[in-house]
Amino acid sequence: MKSKFAKRITTASRSFTRTILDLTSQNSIISFAGGLPDAALFPRENIEKHAKNLFETQDNRLFQYSNASGVEALKIEIAKKYTHALASEIMLTNGSQQGLDLVCKTFLDEKDCIVVEDPSYLAALGLFHMYNATIKAVPLHANGVDVQELERLFKTYQPKFFYTIPVFQNPTGYSYSLENRQEVVKIAEKYNVILLEDSPYEALRYDGKSTVSFADLLPKLTIALGTFSKTLAPDFRIGWIKAPQEIISALTLSKESTDLQNSKFFQYICARMMEKGELNAHIQKLVEYYRPKRDALVEALKRYFGESIEFVIPEGGMFLWVNFKKCADSMQLFDKAIKKGVAFVPGSVFFSDKRISSYGRLNYTNSTLEQIEEGVKALHSAYTEQ
Ligand SMILES: Cc1ncc(COP(=O)(O)O)c(C=O)c1O
Repeated sequence: MKSKFAKRITTASRSFTRTILDLTSQNSIISFAGGLPDAALFPRENIEKHAKNLFETQDNRLFQYSNASGVEALKIEIAKKYTHALASEIMLTNGSQQGLDLVCKTFLDEKDCIVVEDPSYLAALGLFHMYNATIKAVPLHANGVDVQELERLFKTYQPKFFYTIPVFQNPTGYSYSLENRQEVVKIAEKYNVILLEDSPYEALRYDGKSTVSFADLLPKLTIALGTFSKTLAPDFRIGWIKAPQEIISALTLSKESTDLQNSKFFQYICARMMEKGELNAHIQKLVEYYRPKRDALVEALKRYFGESIEFVIPEGGMFLWVNFKKCADSMQLFDKAIKKGVAFVPGSVFFSDKRISSYGRLNYTNSTLEQIEEGVKALHSAYTEQ
């Protein structure tokens, strides 16, 4: 049967994070590997209250087919996140992962060039491969991308878009400075390249001030992706795209041919939580809960590893990107760490060329403070065995 599969499937590799998720769910391994929110915090009571209310106030049309772009009340709420955005510039997606897929479906022909950050989000890299895109990578630093290299790539390859995660990036936790954003905007305008801005973590800010998005700096050339997966619950599968209306119309065609529409039920719950300020209050709670976890991981890493590793403390999000300087290939450290009962994601999987890397991604939101301490201790024990 395999011989009948499309090339995009036979050449796709299984996501390494999925492998680790399977591994860690089977036994008592402490996992810094996933990108999961803490399930203990899902706002069950709010969800239950609004679900009940929907049953009491809506007739059966609640469960009928509707339009592909999403529930108006939710689009109105999401539009408020941007300066001067209209509800007609918003469409709902089944998570931002579907947003990425719809953008690829709408914009990419075989071999079209795109630019990604180096390193970048694993599942986006996998998706771009499935669309047989020509992928060029621009180095990412703690304050943003290498703008000279970005300009060279734009000029040489005229990419369809630049895929960027400018706030609390996955996997690095890095954020672009305002200066870096402004440089990127200048180059994007000069070469007429779309900025595909993916920002699932931006609401989880523990320190510092929020910065202006590409969607607000350059609305005519930005396709912005958002999601409620990290702030509400991933199972809602509600994400959104904000883009100029012409692009939204094209994306809506793609959405219709993919799955017709999102389920309305969760969209209404989400809209009501936003209208009543409950989502913002919940996000505040998450921030207060996750900040000590980030601090605990930073403190334990410093205490156990001292100068033998390097990392930048992220101002928010879910990840820490650690340079295990004494271990040229963190995949080897991963094998030893698993034996000691702790998992993380080796850096190489996040690079488009999958090169050997001394870096690793550590998630802190889905472990308890005790697990963070235990996990870092075990990781250090694996590291000193090198
Ligand atoms: C950068 C990035 N984009 C998109 C997604 C997909 O999120 P979802 O489809 O749950 O909205 C994730 C999930 O971890 C992510 O890290």
